[in-house]
Amino acid sequence: MILPPYKIKSVEKIKLIPVVERLKKIKKAGYNLFFLNSRDVYIDLLTDSGTGAMSDKQWSSLMQSDESYAGSESFLRFQKTIQKILGFPYVIPTHQGRGAESVFNKVLIKKDGIIIGNSPFDTTRAHIENMGGKIIDVTRKEAFDPKSLFNFKGNVDLKKLKRALKKYSAKGGSASGGKNGVTYVLLTITCNSVGGQPVSLENIKETAKLCRTHKVPLFYDIARFAENSFFIKEREIKYKNKKIEDIILETMKYADGVLMSAKKDAIANMGGFIAVRDAELYQKLAPYAILLEGFLNYGGMSGRDMETVATGLCEGIDEDYLKFRTSQVKYLTDSLYNIGVPVIRPAGGHAVFIDAGALLEHIKRDNFPAHALAVALYIEGGIRSVEIGSIMAGRDPETKENRKAPRELLRLAIPRRVYSKEHLDYVIEVFLRVLKNKKSVRGVRFTYEAPVLRHFSSKFRLI
Ligand SMILES: Cc1ncc(COP(=O)(O)O)c(C=O)c1O
Repeated sequence: MILPPYKIKSVEKIKLIPVVERLKKIKKAGYNLFFLNSRDVYIDLLTDSGTGAMSDKQWSSLMQSDESYAGSESFLRFQKTIQKILGFPYVIPTHQGRGAESVFNKVLIKKDGIIIGNSPFDTTRAHIENMGGKIIDVTRKEAFDPKSLFNFKGNVDLKKLKRALKKYSAKGGSASGGKNGVTYVLLTITCNSVGGQPVSLENIKETAKLCRTHKVPLFYDIARFAENSFFIKEREIKYKNKKIEDIILETMKYADGVLMSAKKDAIANMGGFIAVRDAELYQKLAPYAILLEGFLNYGGMSGRDMETVATGLCEGIDEDYLKFRTSQVKYLTDSLYNIGVPVIRPAGGHAVFIDAGALLEHIKRDNFPAHALAVALYIEGGIRSVEIGSIMAGRDPETKENRKAPRELLRLAIPRRVYSKEHLDYVIEVFLRVLKNKKSVRGVRFTYEAPVLRHFSSKFRLI
């Protein structure tokens, strides 16, 4: 048994409201779970982003915060921690991950620039496309095969990457981001869009080698870099005896820079940053960071936020913590699998991903089976989850056609240090009830379709 490496010091009351109330609330929310109030949710598995429980050390670090606009002690601690853990000399704070994406892509992307990556996250994709960039997805095919038990489903298909680099970097521009050239390669570690699945260090090294050959910069989206490093230690035999800290530094060594949402592996409720190796790139990013996020010493965060990120980063890379965290996700994944729910295996780092298309075969893809399952779980048990399927995939910015997600997935994200085994057992019980009556789960149709990032703010009706 893997034991929790912490005990509970502070609690928050939660309540399961009656089913008649849940029916009213979800209807009022336009069948979009983003519009539910959290007090009407019993187990909130919508996201692991900014929902973690802060530690006593994080709370006490608030008291030492320095709220100066420029040159604060809190910024210096924030910067020093990132430099030490990740090894990048230049740090730009941002209010959250998408703040980093907005500044970074504003500076790097020129119209029709090509970005190659392993299934970038939805906000990342939206920022890239908003600047006129085009994404080439080179994720390995195992990522989309629910039967595959491949250990590193976040990996890049190196052959596809090589082909894309050859094809597009030859068109001119390459690192400079010229028209149709490859602007950069982006590795998302772990890869949220395909199930929080890790990328191996072997794959990272080979990706970096190809990028160097083609003179294309390599960046990482490191929202969940600590979980990725833990999986490298667990699953990549060569790194079995290495310390997590060393695996992190080895991983980062191959990148030109990183974008981080500190709301994940830094176990903070708010925050983010960009960290880069090159002074010239830092100088290019800095004015836009000031324009879009705030001065270079706070970037949309308060001193208190920067303190909690600095302390949380140190706690988020602790091996005992990572062992327990990933074991919770594995417990829920394996338990659901054992009762006949088609889940993506092996378990990822932050969430359980369910192949709702396979579970609810009676619901057509155009009626979004994963979203239908999310609605059913809320009605049955007050559980909030999120669709990672064709609603989230959105429309092609040029053709305006609906994009088909490779699979209609439902994500149950596990907030860090929040829920106990009893809570997870309750989720399993609710699934058993939904499974019994799965034919009665109804698909959905848009009543309002939001033009950008439509999963967040569209409205639906049951069919
Ligand atoms: C991989 C990844 N990148 C970027 C982001 C965006 O971060 P934020 O929510 O802090 O804007 C997320 C958020 O879930 C994510 O999972």
